[in-house]
Amino acid sequence: MMAERVIVGISGASGAVIAVRIVEKLAALAGVEVHLVVSDAARRTLRLEHGPEALAQIAALSHRVYPQADIGAAIASGSFPVSGMVVAPCSMRTLSAIATGHTDTLLSRAADVQLKERRRLVLLARETPLHLGHLRNMCTVTEMGAIVMPPVPAFYHRPQTVAEIVDHLAARAIDLLALSRAPMARPWQGEKPDTDLSPTNQSKEWT
Ligand SMILES: Cc1cc2nc3c(=O)[nH]c(=O)nc-3n(C[C@H](O)[C@H](O)[C@H](O)COP(=O)(O)O)c2cc1C
Repeated sequence: MMAERVIVGISGASGAVIAVRIVEKLAALAGVEVHLVVSDAARRTLRLEHGPEALAQIAALSHRVYPQADIGAAIASGSFPVSGMVVAPCSMRTLSAIATGHTDTLLSRAADVQLKERRRLVLLARETPLHLGHLRNMCTVTEMGAIVMPPVPAFYHRPQTVAEIVDHLAARAIDLLALSRAPMARPWQGEKPDTDLSPTNQSKEWT
C-alpha cells in the first residue's frame, strides 16, 4: 500500500513547538511520510523557542526535507500525490501569501497546490490581536477550502502542563487532515451528571 504523504510547513509565527509535536506524532504513524518545509523565519523561531537542535530533530523524523527556495521541488506540483498539508504555526505573512496566491516560496506554493487540487490544507494561524486584514485573509482561505485552526488551547481536559496543551493541539490538527486512521485527540465525553452544576442540568457537547 502506498504511504500517505503529509506536508508539514512551518512558518515563523510563535508556537514552533506545536510543529515539532505534529512531526513527532505523524512520524510515529505507520504508513505516513512527513514531507517538511521550513521557512527562513521558522528556522529562527524553532531555535529561539525550542533550542538549537530542534530543526535537526524534526528533519531526522521526516521522509524528505525541502529547502524553502526550491520552488521546483516535488511538493510544488499537483501531480505529486499527497493526502494534505498542515502549516503549523501559520504566520500572518504566510497566511497572506496563501490568501492572495502570492506563491513565491515553496511553503506557500505547496499550500496553494493543496487548494487547487482540492486537498486538505490546515492552517494554524497564530497572531493576537488580529486586525481586519488578518481576519479577511482567514475568510478568503476558508472560502478557498482551507481549514483555519488557530492554536487556541482547550481547558476542558484540565491540562496540567504546557506539553499536554501542545499535544492536544497537535492531535486536533492531525485529525483535521482526515487521514485514513482513528482520530488522535481524546474526545470529550460530556459532563458527568454529578459535576453538572448548570441550572438546566443539560448535557453539553464540546469539541
Ligand atoms: C520570535 C518571533 C515570534 C513571532 N511570532 C509571530 C506570530 O505569532 N505571528 C506572526 O504572524 N508573525 C510572527 N513573527 C513574525 C514572522 O516571523 C515574520 O512576519 C516573518 O516574515 C514570517 O515569514 P514566514 O511567513 O515566511 O515564515 C514572529 C517573529 C519572531 C522572530
